[in-house]
Amino acid sequence: MSYLTDKLRAPHREAQGEVTVPGQMLEDIVAANPERRTLLKNSFGLSMLSVFGASSLLTACGGDDDDDDAPSNGGGDTGEGTTPTPTPEPEPAGPDYSVTFKPLEDKIVADTVTVPEGYVAEVLYSAGDKCVIGSVGYAGIPQSYPATETQSGGQHDGMHFYPLEGVDPNQGGLLVVNHEALDDATLDQSVEGLKTRLSNVGVSVVEIARAADGKWSVKTDSRYNKRYTGNTVYNVSGPAKSVVGATVVGTLNNCSSGNTPWGTYLTCEETLNNYHYKSGDAGQPADEGYGWVVEIDPQNPGSTAVKRTAMGRFSHENTAYMLDENNRVAFYMGDDTTPGCIYKFVPSKPYDPANRANNMNLLDEGTLYAARFNDDGSGNWVELTVGKNNLTTGATDPGNFTQVASGTVITGTLVDFNTQADVLVKTQAAARVAGATLMDRPEWITVGVDKTVYCTLTNNSRRQRTSAANPRVNNSHGQIIRWHERGDSPLATTFEWDLLLLAGRDPADGAAPNLTGNVNGDTFSSPDGIRVDPKGRLWVQTDAGTGTSTTDFFGNNSMYYIDQQTGESKRFLVGPLGCEITGIAYTPDLTTFFINIQHPNASWNTLRAGGGDARSATIVVRRTDGKPVGA
Ligand code: FEO
Ligand code: CA
Ligand code: CA
Repeated sequence: MSYLTDKLRAPHREAQGEVTVPGQMLEDIVAANPERRTLLKNSFGLSMLSVFGASSLLTACGGDDDDDDAPSNGGGDTGEGTTPTPTPEPEPAGPDYSVTFKPLEDKIVADTVTVPEGYVAEVLYSAGDKCVIGSVGYAGIPQSYPATETQSGGQHDGMHFYPLEGVDPNQGGLLVVNHEALDDATLDQSVEGLKTRLSNVGVSVVEIARAADGKWSVKTDSRYNKRYTGNTVYNVSGPAKSVVGATVVGTLNNCSSGNTPWGTYLTCEETLNNYHYKSGDAGQPADEGYGWVVEIDPQNPGSTAVKRTAMGRFSHENTAYMLDENNRVAFYMGDDTTPGCIYKFVPSKPYDPANRANNMNLLDEGTLYAARFNDDGSGNWVELTVGKNNLTTGATDPGNFTQVASGTVITGTLVDFNTQADVLVKTQAAARVAGATLMDRPEWITVGVDKTVYCTLTNNSRRQRTSAANPRVNNSHGQIIRWHERGDSPLATTFEWDLLLLAGRDPADGAAPNLTGNVNGDTFSSPDGIRVDPKGRLWVQTDAGTGTSTTDFFGNNSMYYIDQQTGESKRFLVGPLGCEITGIAYTPDLTTFFINIQHPNASWNTLRAGGGDARSATIVVRRTDGKPVGA
């Protein structure tokens, strides 16, 4: 989550007596981690073995084929959205997707979007921009509900690009964008304050088109354009419907997202509570209404979005799917909690590529698992089904024991899992009871074209008990973990894993081990967004603190290409002051990348004279010669 979200949620957490881990933001982290602090040498040594043993492990798992011609049968991140191709076919000779851009220099702190030579970065869709037909759009004077209900929300985050029937997908389509939190400066909260705030979160669906000069714009007269907000009514389905109710008003903290093989969009609620509501907001939904994956059909603007409770309730970051040759599918999901677990949901039935309507309830029935990363590099998917793996009445939840010093006795708390609805509403506790591994804040997950699965573990400044997958106490800068399912099957219950890299400062700095990484090339902190594009190229985005204690070492938040064989990192894009870089979408030909700039805070993308309203935005990144991005 962003630091703004963290601030918004803090009072609610305290009111609930929730055990939290302060200091998730990097300014706090660095303050809490003076460089004289020593690291438990055993755990760090184990980490190094794991990292440097990466190539051998991957070879044993079937290899890490970065061939540009590799078929896109991993499925999770194809640009096509509605038309995955389970049976690969030879590709004709075409554009060269080899990465050749000249990496950006270190420690850029410019108040602009910096891209390599030969590229342009253009603002496409900013907080307050027109969305729904008839919208007025923010033009510098803060606005309130109901006008805000028709405009772009704030804090752009995860997104996906979908083709439209009858439209060349490299020239136009639907862009679906999450809005994690508020862009306050665009809002007048003195009128209809609650509804105004709730209209600034959720999701935008906008039709976009490319002009002859290569520039993209929003088609403000498109019937597809739609907002899903904190004021919208959502249906509820799956086993926990009996607890949550048939409908819920509002979605919240729409962090990142994912797509499905059948072309729907999964927006992820990264909160377990309705913190925008104040006491006295009679009739507003209870906390159980939040923390779900919500399915939206962007092709059908008349449809109602659905909260899919079978996929569990936690601080959902994103989803990424793997599809097999029999059209069985698994959805991978991270819980951005300090610490949180990694999950997968396997629908009971296969995806039906012949009849889209047959897939519309696929996410209501299936098996939810949580991951256990064993210290020997093996892994298990632990089933979260009532009656199994200690999920019974009177279970003992050990809590977030990794945050407590070794040697401290953990007493735990009693939790009753009487029904599957109990398991799904209290998924975090269920995962801990079942023995899943507590990870250093799982952010995005992506499935590569060779079916390697990657997850960013952004940081965990208060970790006290390490594991091989989370090898650093007081982990300030995070790591990237990857795994191969047994047989490369989405149905596997075991896997093999290793660490791709530890983020952090160059060892030459002489910093303490918990601040030092092993990035080969351009270094960074706090990986968050991650995606393998359809040509097998791995992209990583960062959400580190934006104070000088961080930018002195890493510059502004950035986006990197990372070689999956060598771990070599090349800096591709640097954001303006104060921002997080997040969201990766692209046209099928990869000549256009869509990237989100979240919470810039200086003069970039301001409308009002004198600034003060730097707006979150989706930007277009493309080459001036029209060739694929990165090449
Ligand atoms: Fe909204 Fe975990 O980032
Ligand atoms: Ca983050
Ligand atoms: Ca994130």
